[in-house]
Amino acid sequence: MKTKILFISLIIIGLGLTAISTTNNDPVIVKNSGISFSQVLQDDDADAKYPLGANIYKTKCIACHQATGEGMPGVFPPLKDADYLFADKVRAVTQVLNGSNEEMVVNGVSYTMPMTPQVDSKEDAVAVINYVLNSWGNDGGTVTMEEVKDVKIIRE
Ligand code: HEC
Repeated sequence: MKTKILFISLIIIGLGLTAISTTNNDPVIVKNSGISFSQVLQDDDADAKYPLGANIYKTKCIACHQATGEGMPGVFPPLKDADYLFADKVRAVTQVLNGSNEEMVVNGVSYTMPMTPQVDSKEDAVAVINYVLNSWGNDGGTVTMEEVKDVKIIRE
């Protein structure tokens, strides 16, 4: 008997949710799930610590590397827990500044699509890489302007 009542309640709840999702364009469903879009994007210590980098990431990088930093396997490499990224921070700054067009293996998966230059100044490149190195549970340390002083901005 109890199972039957539970089953019927579930159907009623299910119908209710379907009704909301089909009749309302507002993000009601997202709110109901307890996670709003802005929370997904802001609940990270790195947002407070690296506001400039966070802003650049959410404007420019998020489309490919995703809000989770996990990228898309085989297409856009991950930045979260990425062995390749942690191995060379100056290289990461250079890639964001000048783009990258080489085959790379990140966490055992190969990536061949090019990335165009993403930022126009070393300050922006350092800011966004420091954000990335410390987001999503990353504990990748930081990179300084001094460490990238020999990096040239190349535009063909
Ligand atoms: C249009 C998609 C796209 C955008 C936007 C983009 N990337 Fe990438 N990113 C890629 C691709 C594709 C690669 C692999 C490039 C290669 O194989 O040479 C890559 C590689 C990287 C790498 C080296 C690989 C790794 O996992 O460490 C870093 C670091 C990186 N991107 C950071 C950024 C940052 C920071 C931004 C924003 C400022 C950004 N990317 C914006 C597509 C993108």
